[in-house]
Amino acid sequence: MEYLNFNEEELTADVKEMSLLEVRNVCMQCQNCSLAKSRTNIVFSDGYANAPVMLIGEAPGADEDASGVPFVGRAGKLLTQMLEECGINRETDLYICNTIKCRPPENRDPKPEEKVSCSKYLEAQINIVRPKLIVLCGATAAKSFLGDDLKISQIRGNKYMIFDKIPATVIFHPSYLLRNHSEEPNSPRWLTKKDLTAIKKFIDNLK
Ligand code: URA
Repeated sequence: MEYLNFNEEELTADVKEMSLLEVRNVCMQCQNCSLAKSRTNIVFSDGYANAPVMLIGEAPGADEDASGVPFVGRAGKLLTQMLEECGINRETDLYICNTIKCRPPENRDPKPEEKVSCSKYLEAQINIVRPKLIVLCGATAAKSFLGDDLKISQIRGNKYMIFDKIPATVIFHPSYLLRNHSEEPNSPRWLTKKDLTAIKKFIDNLK
């Protein structure tokens, strides 16, 4: 009966991975908005399908469009570095994706109609991963879930319930942190470290 000695965590991860692959395959053929014409690759996700935390960014940039992987450019490298400094492993603790899967030209903000036509992919990702916490990274992701009138400086660090009662929190976007170098107390970088440290504690408490 050794074949029944499966690890439940691995099995769940495999099932989620297969379901996500099906959604990704549909997304690869997507022509639902004009961004399909200019994309090199869709940028679907990175990280672990069964991760406790799902990080949702804004939209792919040039490096992500070229590689098909989210958060690999300058902003992504800063994010990865800050995650590591706070003890969060990008590959095992997080499932990473964006509000939209194709790069907007000149890195402009995603248009409302682009977010709407891409929302079915994001909703499918949330439904399959069922994270214990969603981290909305930056104003675009936060506004998509919490409303357009909010100011990121007022909502970061707060706890919200979104999408069928999944806890969510908001952090500054690493592109913003690239323009704000200070690490003084209460600076955006200092606050982000504080937020990431709280997220690490949340992950550890699940174990
Ligand atoms: N910025 C984002 O919001 N997402 C990426 O994948 C890269 C940069």
